[in-house]
Amino acid sequence: DAPENLLSRPPVVTIMGHVDHGKTSLLDALRSANVVSGEAGGITQHIGAYQVTSPLGGKITFIDTPGHAAFTAMRARGAKVTDIVVLVVAADDGVMPQTVEAINHARAAKVPLIVAINKIDKPDAKPERVRSELLQYEVQVESMGGDTLEVEVSAKAHTNLDKLLEAISLQAEVLDLKANPDREAEGTVIEAKLDRGRGPVATVLVQRGTLHVGDIVVAGAEMGRVRALISDKGSQLGSAEPSMPVEVLGFNGTPEAGDRLAVVESEARAREITDYRKNQKREKAAARSAT
Ligand code: GTP
Ligand code: NA
Ligand code: MG
Repeated sequence: DAPENLLSRPPVVTIMGHVDHGKTSLLDALRSANVVSGEAGGITQHIGAYQVTSPLGGKITFIDTPGHAAFTAMRARGAKVTDIVVLVVAADDGVMPQTVEAINHARAAKVPLIVAINKIDKPDAKPERVRSELLQYEVQVESMGGDTLEVEVSAKAHTNLDKLLEAISLQAEVLDLKANPDREAEGTVIEAKLDRGRGPVATVLVQRGTLHVGDIVVAGAEMGRVRALISDKGSQLGSAEPSMPVEVLGFNGTPEAGDRLAVVESEARAREITDYRKNQKREKAAARSAT
């Protein structure tokens, strides 16, 4: 990006942690708390990724379901989609194998962690034990003298949700996240499906530039002209800025989760790129079936 065009962008946050520690509940609570606080939309259309407004101002992008197929593809491509990992640890269960996996994944990707100790409403909650268990994996939270941000939350009782959003905003400030909105869009397909009425629908996280209705796009081996952009609140947009998750309508075929999206100058160029990629796919498939 040209430095003069770099503007701050919202953080992209993934919620990770052990099975049943409350990742989805926490995401639901954050979203509904946000709706209650007056964000437009009411009942939101689920697109697997959404934005909420922080109490400190500014937006935060959450990507739903960390176990999502999209993330495997993204990791394989080395694409850095997530800026921050929120590690959810249930206070009654403590650090478990997938907690450790999440720590290792965040570390490998050099993505900062924020620890959310969840289920503190439970009578058998032991947040102190969680903190000392985390130390064994070299995660030192603030109250243990370290610099990893931590928040005790209850997704069920909606406790400290604002504090968690604040912690994310503070961490994002430190990261000083920027992108150039004044260029052709680039992004990553989070998920994609063939919809009976609407045709191929790709949920795309815009990472650089601004995506516009009418743009000619390429994602993996598929191309199209953007017919509509739909926000996580279900409203039609004319354009989508960096860190914004949007449904993109207008693809001729259904791209794959993890595919990189790019805007190109002409349909002829888009066809050239996707014909080449389709050929490569065919050759790979043929080579596989020959062995
Ligand atoms: P997976 O996606 O299957 O890994 O689970 P998850 O981490 O998304 O957990 P989920 O949100 O499905 O919650 C698992 C269980 O814990 C559900 O029964 C929730 O109601 C419960 N739960 C989640 N958060 C809390 C909480 O803060 N307090 C209490 N008491 N229960 C909670
Ligand atoms: Na669950
Ligand atoms: Mg879940």
